[in-house]
Amino acid sequence: MENYRNSPLEISKEEFRKIGYQLIDSVSDFLDSIVKTRVTTGESPEQLKKIIGTLSIPEDGTSPQEIITRAATLLLNHSLLNGHPRFLGYITASPAPIGALADLLATAVNPNVGANILSPIATEIEKQTVKWLAELIGVSPSYGGLLVSGGNMANFTAFLTARSVKAPKNIKEDGISNATRKLVVYCPLTTHTWIEKAAVLFGLGSNAIRWIKTDPANRMDIEALEQAILSDLKDGYKPLLAVGNAGDVSTGVIDNLAGIASICKKYDLWFHVDGAYGLPAIVVPELKPLFKGIEEADSIALDPHKWLYSPLEAGCVLVKDPNHLIQTYSFHPAYYNFDTNNGAQNYYEYGLQNSRGFREFKVWLILQQAGRSGYEKMISQDIQLSKLLFEKAKSHSELEGITQNLSITTFRYVPRNYVGNTEKDDTYLNSLNEELLNELQRGDEVFLSNAVVNGK
Ligand SMILES: Cc1ncc(COP(=O)(O)O)c(C=O)c1O
Repeated sequence: MENYRNSPLEISKEEFRKIGYQLIDSVSDFLDSIVKTRVTTGESPEQLKKIIGTLSIPEDGTSPQEIITRAATLLLNHSLLNGHPRFLGYITASPAPIGALADLLATAVNPNVGANILSPIATEIEKQTVKWLAELIGVSPSYGGLLVSGGNMANFTAFLTARSVKAPKNIKEDGISNATRKLVVYCPLTTHTWIEKAAVLFGLGSNAIRWIKTDPANRMDIEALEQAILSDLKDGYKPLLAVGNAGDVSTGVIDNLAGIASICKKYDLWFHVDGAYGLPAIVVPELKPLFKGIEEADSIALDPHKWLYSPLEAGCVLVKDPNHLIQTYSFHPAYYNFDTNNGAQNYYEYGLQNSRGFREFKVWLILQQAGRSGYEKMISQDIQLSKLLFEKAKSHSELEGITQNLSITTFRYVPRNYVGNTEKDDTYLNSLNEELLNELQRGDEVFLSNAVVNGK
């Protein structure tokens, strides 16, 4: 068609193809040679600021060829590479390369997966992705849910759903400040900070969190959970939900999910599982028993951008009764004309967003490339590597292996011939290890992250 508008953002077909091919060549070289490059350049914010410059927003545009060439050089040479084989920190997996191709295609088509009419095929793909994720972790495929940006958002989405289902029925109209009984939530001490954000931001307040102590295996102490609920009931509080971790953020411990599920059932609490990081390990047959009880969860957080090797951002929340999402998130403004009568699912009714990107597309392709057996293989190997690291740490004369669960090994440096077992010695070793970690994170050899285990 004739280009009658001559938009400043137009790129001709020939130019797009030329720039695209060049970019694909650069990205292919980058992915192929990542092992030979540095994990990070360790450049300071000041150095990087100099590199990108401090000019104001350009008045006039620049040619796309020049912009893309410059941007590729910048990113490929000045990034921390979490897909590097020696990036061992946090829980950001190496991104599957097909995810990069998926994002290109997804953004070229740009469906708005908030409403079915705006994203007919993308909506079906999201439904299938959600179903496949439920199947992958072995819960009923009748769980419903949606893709969100990551673990915090998946947990928030579940938290708000629990609040609207379990709190007094007038909460939508009157808000929680008018609730006659204060809402409280329960989670093990090992829970990720999302719970604090949720309690504060969604009106319960941080004092509404009952941090339940853990047992010697670092799992939530089930007896302590029940005692806390009983004590709150006696004092007139309204217990809302309990969280079980399926792979806690620091050491990968899986809580006694079946135990928490039965207590939730007994006292009518919502049972939420934060499996953002560790739940994919359920595909390894020997590990499946560790997750017993997951099938009882009212809601589950699971992050494809962690242990399912998806590029950022991709989180997922699954809810046992998908109507609970609609009950929480469905609003019908007059300016929306989105049919729900023909079986069309409108994702704006399932979560916090209205306009939504096509983030499930990369996950859908990755699940197809790996298949269930591919995940079993990759995740088993990750765990073997983690165990190997733990063994190496334990047998090393200057390292102390502390914990090993799923793909997380924790260890610390203890100088040769170091003697001391008082609390003061731990303070010294803690700051020594903190300094070492800071050095390593800025260096280009290996990237590690930290955990605090029993004060160490
Ligand atoms: C168990 C757990 N929950 C939640 C989160 C938060 O996920 P995100 O950083 O994707 O928001 C993390 C992140 O590491 C996690 O490990």
